[in-house]
Amino acid sequence: MTSLKTTIAGLELETCIYNASGPLCTTAEELDDLGQSMAGAILSKSATLEYRAGNEKPRYYETGWGSINSMGLPNEGYKFYADYAKQAAQYGKPYIVSVSGMGFEDNATIIKHLAGNENIKAIELNLSCPNLPGKPQTGYDFEQSRALLNRVFEVAQQPLGVKLPPYFDMPHFEMMAEVLNDFPISFATCINSIGNGLVIDTDQECVVIKPKKGFGGIGGDFIKPTALANVRKFYTLLKKDVDIIGVGGIKNGMDAFEHILCGASAVQIGTQLMREGTGCFARIAGELQEIMNKKGYSSINDFKGKLKDME
Ligand code: DHB
Repeated sequence: MTSLKTTIAGLELETCIYNASGPLCTTAEELDDLGQSMAGAILSKSATLEYRAGNEKPRYYETGWGSINSMGLPNEGYKFYADYAKQAAQYGKPYIVSVSGMGFEDNATIIKHLAGNENIKAIELNLSCPNLPGKPQTGYDFEQSRALLNRVFEVAQQPLGVKLPPYFDMPHFEMMAEVLNDFPISFATCINSIGNGLVIDTDQECVVIKPKKGFGGIGGDFIKPTALANVRKFYTLLKKDVDIIGVGGIKNGMDAFEHILCGASAVQIGTQLMREGTGCFARIAGELQEIMNKKGYSSINDFKGKLKDME
């Protein structure tokens, strides 16, 4: 029997496919839907200290090849995501909270509060929100990233991983890996959207989302090669006990296969989840199993990370 079971951060997942933080994971109803779906885990929308309404709408736009968003961190505030954990427990799959405080102390406060909660199985610390006007992404500042990790590991109790922005330059991969390898991180999720793209409606000669004069994070087909490169690089550079979680451009079983071949222990679905709803998890899982069957693989460990170089 083909199995899609995996382990991330020491947690067992029945299937290696679940949601990216962002789409359809903000409200209790949305989180319940994820719980009832075939997703292998439930990951929350990035939480801040307080409730946030987010940026002005329209703030998400979908086109043939993918999406652009500048949501501005709409979320219920961390206490809601902490309280929801009890309800999440009924679904029998790990509940993970994404944390994206507006500064070091916000992150520390949130992670300290989550620490005692046994129904929160891990924390994904977001180093890569590109949509806050005037705020640089922490993940592009290596010393800030180090300082933040120093602070949060003083208070973290659950396994903690990081959500990274995409990197494009070889020294940058190495510089970030050097920082991360100095901390007991459990996983690295690669990648967040490619920040600050621009999509245009040529009929209207106008941008398609309202915040930030139309600039926003890009998801979908075009980001897959960048996502695969980031998964591959961090798989080779990070300590071997750090799980890589692949996200970016996955809409079918073959895309998931590619991410795992590059080294991903699990994959997350963003743009395609928005497009298709939670039915995408069962569909992509079925497609991945079919590919594995054809290739004679019975578990993802049979091919995880085994991408070959050319002779
Ligand atoms: C938002 C977007 C992101 O890519 C992210 O990592 C966190 C928040 C947002 O705009 O809500």
